[in-house]
Amino acid sequence: MVGFIKGVKMEFFGEGRVKVLMPGKDSNSGALEKVLILDFGGQYTHLIARRCREVGVFSEIVPFNLSPEELVNYGNVKALILSGGPRSVYEEGAPHPNKRLLESGLPIFGICYGHQLIGEQFGGKVLRGSKAEYGRVSINIIGESALFASLPKRIDAWMSHGDAVLEPPEGFKVTAVSESNIIAAMENAEKRIYSVQFHVEVKHTPLGRDVLRNFLRGVAGCRLDWRPTDVIDRMVKEVADTVKEDEKVVCGVSGGVDSMTTAAIIQRAIGDRLHVIFIDHGLLRKGERELVLESLKRLQIRNIHFIDASEEFLAALSGVRDPEEKRRIIGRLFIEVFERAAAEIEDVKYLAQGTIYPDRVESGATGVLTSLIKSHHNVAGLPEKLGLKLIEPLRDLYKDEVREVAKALGLPSSVINRHPFPGPGLAVRVDGEVTEEKLRICREANAIVEEEFRRAGFYDSVWQAFAVVLDSKWVGVKGDARSVGFVVIIRAVTSEDGMTADWYPIPSDLVDRVSRRITNEVEGVVMVAYAVTSKPPATIELC
Ligand code: XMP
Repeated sequence: MVGFIKGVKMEFFGEGRVKVLMPGKDSNSGALEKVLILDFGGQYTHLIARRCREVGVFSEIVPFNLSPEELVNYGNVKALILSGGPRSVYEEGAPHPNKRLLESGLPIFGICYGHQLIGEQFGGKVLRGSKAEYGRVSINIIGESALFASLPKRIDAWMSHGDAVLEPPEGFKVTAVSESNIIAAMENAEKRIYSVQFHVEVKHTPLGRDVLRNFLRGVAGCRLDWRPTDVIDRMVKEVADTVKEDEKVVCGVSGGVDSMTTAAIIQRAIGDRLHVIFIDHGLLRKGERELVLESLKRLQIRNIHFIDASEEFLAALSGVRDPEEKRRIIGRLFIEVFERAAAEIEDVKYLAQGTIYPDRVESGATGVLTSLIKSHHNVAGLPEKLGLKLIEPLRDLYKDEVREVAKALGLPSSVINRHPFPGPGLAVRVDGEVTEEKLRICREANAIVEEEFRRAGFYDSVWQAFAVVLDSKWVGVKGDARSVGFVVIIRAVTSEDGMTADWYPIPSDLVDRVSRRITNEVEGVVMVAYAVTSKPPATIELC
C-alpha cells in the first residue's frame, strides 16, 4: 500500500507485508463472532465497522464481491452488512455482490446503496434520481419489526441518497417511510434480510446504534460481548507462536500510541527478545524524549536502543526550504539511521510496526484509500532491505480500540491520549529552512499551546492543537526599542480521522493566554496569529 500526504509519496509507508497477524482470523477463532461489511465504496464504511464493534461484535471490511467460498476464511460469520456507496445500482460497472452469497441464508443488513442493492437483486424496483433526500429526515416506523424493537414510532435519521427503492421485492414488507414518503426500511423477516435507506452509523441518526444493535442481536443472534481488550491475549499468543526461541524482533517507537502499544504487546509475548529503537531526529516536542524513555521503562522493556541523531538530521536539513524535500530528507535519513541501529542487533528476524486498521483497508469498490494517516515508523522498503518479516499486531484495530488496549497494558495516559504528531515532527511546523532558532521557538510555542489546552480542559476535545513558525518577520516594540521577530500561528482542529478537519473556535480568553505567554516567554516572537481555516481547503499542518 502506498500512501500520499500532501501529494507526496511518503517514504515512511509500508508495502508488501510478509507476516499477517489478525486478531480473530486464526484457525482457533471458532468462538469469535464476526460481522462482515461488504464495501461498496461508501464514505462511512469504516464507521459501520466501528459501530458494530462498539455494540460488541467484531467486524471486518471485505471486498464487495466476496464469494461464499471465500467466506469460510473468515471464521464464525454471523451476518453480512452491505455498505453504502457512491454509485447507482443500474449504472454500468456499478459494484454488485455475489448473488450466491446473498442467498446463503446468512442474515443481511443493507444500508443506503446496500438497501438499493437488496431492492434490485431480489426483484424490486429502484428509481434513479428524483427521489433524493439529503440531511436529517424524520421517518415513521410502520408495523412491527425486530429492527425497530423498543424504538419510538418516529425517529430522526440521516439520509444521503439520490436513488430510492420504489417497490420492495416480493416477500419484503416496508417497515418505515420517510416524511417524503420514501421507503426508509424494508425486510424479509423469514429470510432475515433487512435494509434501511438511512445511515444508522452516523451520529446524526441518534438511535442508529439501537437499530444496528437490534439487527445484530435480535436478528443475527450475536452475543454482543466483544471488547477491544479481548484481543490482547490473542495478539500476545500469536506473536509468541510466530517468533521462535532464538529469534528477535526489532520495533521502532516514536512515542505515539500505536508504536508504543505494539512494543508493549511484543514485550509481553517475547520479553527481552524485543529490541526497541527510538531515534531522536531533533524534531520532537518538548519533553518527548524523556516521556518515551520513561514509558518504555515502565513497560519493562529492557533493550532500548536510543539514538540521538538530531545533529545529523539538522545538518541534512540545513539550507533546505522546500517542504517536500524536507520530508524526503527526513524519511531517507530516518531509514538509514534505523538500518544502522538494527544491523547491530544479532538474530533479528522481524520488524514490528504499529499499522492500524484504517491504514491498510482500501476500498475495493472505489480504489480509494479510506484513510491516509500513517505512522512514522511504517518504513517502506525497510523490512525487505534488512531481510525482515513484518509483524503488525494492531492491524485490525481502530485508534480508539488501540487506546483501550494501551490502557489495559499500562501505558501512561500522557502517551495514550496524546494528539497525533507527524513523523517528520516539528519540521512540518517550521516554515522554510529548519534552523535551530525556529525549532526552539516552535518547540516552546507548541508546549505552551498544549499546556494551556490541558489546563483549560480542552486538550481532549480537539484532534490537534499546536503552533507553527513562519519564515517572515513582524516588526515589534519592546520597551522603547523597535525589534523584529517571528510570527507564530496557533491552530486547533477537530477531526474524526485527519482526512477533513474543522477549525476549532478556541475561547477568546484561552487565545489571549496562549498569545501572551508565547510573546512573553518565547524569545524572538513578536506576533501570534490564529488560524481559522478548515481542511479543505487548508491542510492541518503548515507544510
Ligand atoms: P495534513 O497536514 O496533511 O495532516 O492535513 C493530516 C494528519 O496527518 C498528520 N500528518 C502526518 N503524519 N507523517 C505522519 O506520520 C507525515 O508526514 C504527516 N503529515 C501530516 C497530521 O499531523 C494530521 O494529523
